[in-house]
Amino acid sequence: MTDWGLSHVSVGKYDTILDVGCGGGRTVSKLAAATEGKVYGIDYSEESVAASKKTNARWIEKGRAEIRHGSVSELPFPDGMFDLVTAVETHIWWPNLAADMREVFRVVKPGGKLAIVGELYRGANTRVARLADKYAAQAGMAHLSVEEHRELFVQAGFRDVEVMTEPDKAWICGFGRRP
Ligand SMILES: C[S@@+](CC[C@H](N)C(=O)[O-])C[C@H]1O[C@@H](n2cnc3c(N)ncnc32)[C@H](O)[C@@H]1O
Repeated sequence: MTDWGLSHVSVGKYDTILDVGCGGGRTVSKLAAATEGKVYGIDYSEESVAASKKTNARWIEKGRAEIRHGSVSELPFPDGMFDLVTAVETHIWWPNLAADMREVFRVVKPGGKLAIVGELYRGANTRVARLADKYAAQAGMAHLSVEEHRELFVQAGFRDVEVMTEPDKAWICGFGRRP
């Protein structure tokens, strides 16, 4: 799913990239292999930070990756730092999705992009997606339709927004450019 989602974004040769909710760090490694720039990962779980550092030890040693502890709600980076921000299988858990999207927008360079990839959306053709219609709120996760995803990007300030899906797998990816 990550490869499917990221196949829709082009990574520049010297891009500075942030992967939000980096988890075990596999997306950080994929991105580090795709650019000669630097890839940052951030996660609010100390365990994920440790796992991600381990997975990316080789890239960190070369100065091509850096893993930080922190939340998407308060990113420890200056305005306009990143050419690309990715968020894979994480946005549905963010505590305040609309505000968190604006915080991500803040750290994207003008002309830079946000790519969100997820494996659940409202309206997908899977049993889990139908169960989530009932239980998402209880589980504390966002369960958004394609149109609501598009709106999330637009409301945060992104333009050229595109949302793509694989309905039988419930995969969704969304892209937006900071003007
Ligand atoms: C299902 S894992 C996905 C990890 C990774 N992106 C991947 O594709 O393998 C979700 C990750 O999002 C992180 N996460 C959830 N809420 C977060 C937040 N508010 N700020 C930063 N990371 C968060 C979790 O700690 C977890 O590591």
